Amino acid sequence: MTTPFSETLRNSTWADHEDAESESYLSALMSGRLSEHEYGQMVAQHYFAYAALDGVSRRLAGHPVAGRFVFPELFREPALERDLTTIYGPGWRERIAPSKSTRTLVARIQQVADWPAGYVAHHYTRYLGDLSGGQFIRMELQKIYGYPKGGGVDFYFFDELGSLPRFKNDYRSRLDTLGLELDERERHRMIREVKLAYQLNTEVLTELMHTVKAAA
Ligand code: HEM
Repeated sequence: MTTPFSETLRNSTWADHEDAESESYLSALMSGRLSEHEYGQMVAQHYFAYAALDGVSRRLAGHPVAGRFVFPELFREPALERDLTTIYGPGWRERIAPSKSTRTLVARIQQVADWPAGYVAHHYTRYLGDLSGGQFIRMELQKIYGYPKGGGVDFYFFDELGSLPRFKNDYRSRLDTLGLELDERERHRMIREVKLAYQLNTEVLTELMHTVKAAA
């Protein structure tokens, strides 16, 4: 294996990334066509997905393989709670529920909790995305809704990580090491799980767009 696994993973799934990125909910959001509450619906779905991902991460913190990808600084629940309080007020918990696609995504995250490479596939798809394109999304959202730091887009702030490029480089070397440890079959299986993770995350966005359109 000459190409680092992080590169293979990225190249083999970039078309799936394009599908996620061009989802119409995100285009509507990024062009300022959604109300604050319509943006809040995505934050709410993130809340349920990250409650699952962070919960599994906590359980796997001591695992010899999966544990290398567990960073409490990445946990998103407290930031999402601040964002939801800003958007919907203190009664936000009564106003949100997981959508059907979010329940499917959450079920899959829980299913792969006993398969380290599968867990890493979901972890990579979400967190490396939040640390990459997510930073651009945050800047756009701040322009559109005027949120300062402290609630609204805190989900996208990773102050405790320090330098994001440095963290991402370190994360990619962890992926490279994992790729060397896995056999060919298992590497392919993990790539397929990243594709599935993209698909499940994209379906959450598609369902959100239907909800937004139905309410219009
Ligand atoms: C408006 C929407 C989006 C934009 C503009 C965007 C943009 C980008 C850009 C520019 C990068 C490359 C950054 C770099 O090379 O450091 C990136 C990486 C990434 N994005 Fe997105 N993205 C979006 C949505 C998403 C979504 C919805 C997901 C996941 C569900 C996602 C997951 C990822 C991942 C995992 C990476 C890292 C790929 C790698 O280097 O291995 N992105 N994104």
